[in-house]
Amino acid sequence: MCGIVGYVGDQQARDVVIEGLRRLEYRGYDSAGIALVHDGVITSAKRAGKLANLEKAISEEALPAATVGIGHTRWATHGAPNDVNAHPHLGADGRVAVVHNGILENFARLRDELERAGHDLVSETDTEVAAHLLELEVQSGADLTTAMQNVCRRLEGAFTLVAVDGQDPTRVVAARRNSPLVVGIGEGENFIGSDVSAFIEHTREALELGQDQVVTITRDGVAVTDFDGNAAEGRRYHVDWDLAAAEKDGFDWFMRKEIFEQPRAIGDALLGRHDEDGLLQLDEVRISDDELRDIDKIIIIGCGTANYAGMVAKYAIEHWTRIPCEVELAHEFRYRDPILTRNTLVVAISQSGETADTLMAIRHAVKQKARVLAICNTNGSTIPRESDAVIYTHAGPEIGVASTKGFLTQLIACYLLGLYLAQVRGTKFGDEIGAVVRELAQMPDRAQRVLDQSDAIYALAKRFKDEKSFLFLGRHAGFPVALEGALKLKELAYIHAEGFAAGELKHGPIALIDQGLPVFCVVPPRGRDQLHDKMISAIQEVRARGALTIVLAEEDDTEVAPYADVLIKLPIVPTLLQPVVATIPMQLFACELATLLGHDVDQPRNLAKSVTVE
Ligand code: G6P
Repeated sequence: MCGIVGYVGDQQARDVVIEGLRRLEYRGYDSAGIALVHDGVITSAKRAGKLANLEKAISEEALPAATVGIGHTRWATHGAPNDVNAHPHLGADGRVAVVHNGILENFARLRDELERAGHDLVSETDTEVAAHLLELEVQSGADLTTAMQNVCRRLEGAFTLVAVDGQDPTRVVAARRNSPLVVGIGEGENFIGSDVSAFIEHTREALELGQDQVVTITRDGVAVTDFDGNAAEGRRYHVDWDLAAAEKDGFDWFMRKEIFEQPRAIGDALLGRHDEDGLLQLDEVRISDDELRDIDKIIIIGCGTANYAGMVAKYAIEHWTRIPCEVELAHEFRYRDPILTRNTLVVAISQSGETADTLMAIRHAVKQKARVLAICNTNGSTIPRESDAVIYTHAGPEIGVASTKGFLTQLIACYLLGLYLAQVRGTKFGDEIGAVVRELAQMPDRAQRVLDQSDAIYALAKRFKDEKSFLFLGRHAGFPVALEGALKLKELAYIHAEGFAAGELKHGPIALIDQGLPVFCVVPPRGRDQLHDKMISAIQEVRARGALTIVLAEEDDTEVAPYADVLIKLPIVPTLLQPVVATIPMQLFACELATLLGHDVDQPRNLAKSVTVE
């Protein structure tokens, strides 16, 4: 999830682009770069690290005056966050410069083709292939717009591309497939951005592009086509938001924005990791198949929300692979002298990749010669760097301290890992794995259907805003969901909340039930190991003692409806995947309740996004 900017007009492009990047820096800050068109050539500059590093470099290098330019602030996906991998990327002769947000799934094939034709690609990125391909097109006589259409037809995956041609000082051309891109319409100048915050200081007139469209901006015009060159139209609108709201896409909190981004984030976490038949392709797991077959124990470690993702993973991985799997808080694991061998796989889950407790735990595991695989959202962070392998979750930067899209994409990465191990070890048939992959592929739509109920969940938060205590109950994969629901409420609303395995209720916690106590109940899908019916019994038990039940159940579950004081309907999904949809109402509820109580949702008291001390 990178930030991209493009500009054509009368102002100094350098200033407009850098200012736009500053507004978009929340989207990623691994590196930043700029390319300007002037005097028939392109001059570019790029630096690893925050935008300030680039600004320092260009103040020393004194970029030339130019009125056409593009820029990029990076959230690394392919290749380490260093100077070489920073965008823009140039074609072989430096005539075309490109910035990119997204993942080009077929880049390896295209790179091969270019290398065989004698091209020397200098970075590890997927983006550089697009720069070379575009340059070949313009060198053979196409204008940049036609070149973009021709290249886009060859690309697979999700992308926003923005390009300039050193020999064409009139235009910036961009293309969009499944990644964000908006055009800012000015007078005598036009803009391109990942979102409107990139240009909102200059214009509030915007044009949203549709899927698979190419846009050409010149000083006085904006032209949209599809990838075949047919004229097309975007949706024009006026932006009412102020700058602060624009960065949050109109949401009041980054966290709320991140909750609503989850369908996209889940899609990105799955992108390029399976083929049409459901065969998994996790190239980034650089542990050989032989070593994966020799694993006799898995220990999953993490802290906070990441630990709950690990608890869900245990149910899935054991079921699919039959490998014994433990889940442990990273800080407990480190100090109990765990039994680790070469055949132990330690899976470290961390959104930030910097949590000290988790880092110390993997260092201990590495010393004991265990294999370590990280599931992480932050490219190039310490935990993946010190691990044998990594599965990146591709959620994009998570700004809200309480994890939301980080968690759901950790779940997706855990499912992919479990299925991949099952594939390599042959513990599931290909068609069984394919069936689960097809279910996963539907998760973005299903998550969206839960988000569509947000108004009802917000009304619920209003109704319960004066409560002092909440319980959360779940069973099986719904148990970690209950824990996560309680954690969200503690973190954001500072309200006492506890999650329990519903079966444990009668062994103590039921004493807490009092008249009117709100109890969230996550009901497992029907038809498996009587879990569903046992959960209904637990709901009846708390209700009989005066609790008010807020029940999350499959949308056509008529058996549970009579016992629900409030019913939240979930899409029908397999039991192991239910946490993906069941967690979302809890996130919305906690976010709204904290807002109603006047708390700072993005930066709750006493917490830090990345806890880098033990
Ligand atoms: C902090 C955050 C939690 C997060 C935990 C683990 O405690 O407040 O929201 O779940 O760290 O963070 P990680 O970056 O390792 O996933």
